[in-house]
Amino acid sequence: MAIDRLPAGLVLSGGSLFFTEETMPDSLRREHALPAQHWAVLHAFEGSVTFVDLQADAERIIPAPDHIIIHPEVRHLLAGEGPFRCRMDFFREPDPDIHMGTPGAHADEAVRDSLERCEANGGFAEVFYNTFLNASAEIAPYFASTDFERQRTLLRDTVYTMVSHHVTEPEMRELLEKLGEAHNRNNRNVLPVLYELWLDSICETAKALDPEWSEDLDRQWRARLRPGMQIIMAAY
Ligand code: HEM
Repeated sequence: MAIDRLPAGLVLSGGSLFFTEETMPDSLRREHALPAQHWAVLHAFEGSVTFVDLQADAERIIPAPDHIIIHPEVRHLLAGEGPFRCRMDFFREPDPDIHMGTPGAHADEAVRDSLERCEANGGFAEVFYNTFLNASAEIAPYFASTDFERQRTLLRDTVYTMVSHHVTEPEMRELLEKLGEAHNRNNRNVLPVLYELWLDSICETAKALDPEWSEDLDRQWRARLRPGMQIIMAAY
């Protein structure tokens, strides 16, 4: 069984590496299921991946850039013939027994504190755009007629929102869908391949501005922003 919306209230619990037709583990190509209370979002970035629902005896092809929601305990397997690139984000229902609330709660706080240290130390959005526009020759032309004062405010507010809220919150989904639309092929035509540079530039900015930067924080920033970023990207 597959639906296209993740239920509200789940928390991010992890993410996979990128897989291609050569590197997708055999365990995913064999029958398997997520444990109770665990969900996954499978994003196809290139080519297409086939989701085979063994319980419903149904197949769904996921062409890039699209995604599918995988439900707890549904026996399934993945298949893909031609070249493809995909990855997964894992979510779980919150566990009230875990100290500090949800599994993601501590990480959220660490990233938010880091962003606040960055802000205290300089303009996050200004350093970000200096970094991002120099990350590839393909990026500057997109911003040829941008009002950067407005853009910096919007970017700063959006990053703060992405750091503070889960992608599963309805308001957050709405924002991400709106940004997905603004960036997709019908509007700004931001190529999906450029998003990784966006995330790298965010982390480079935080590294430059946060005096307490560490490898662990780098991981936490990426884990925090990636799920939202993938949703914006998947709207291409
Ligand atoms: C998760 C990643 C990203 C986020 C959160 C983000 C956020 C935003 C926001 C908040 C806006 C303002 C929207 C508005 O006008 O209402 C915007 C506009 C824009 N973004 Fe992004 N962005 C992302 C990735 C990218 C990437 C990878 C590019 C590649 C070039 C890009 C290019 C642009 C451009 C060209 C605009 C319009 C600027 C203008 O008004 O002239 N964005 N983005």
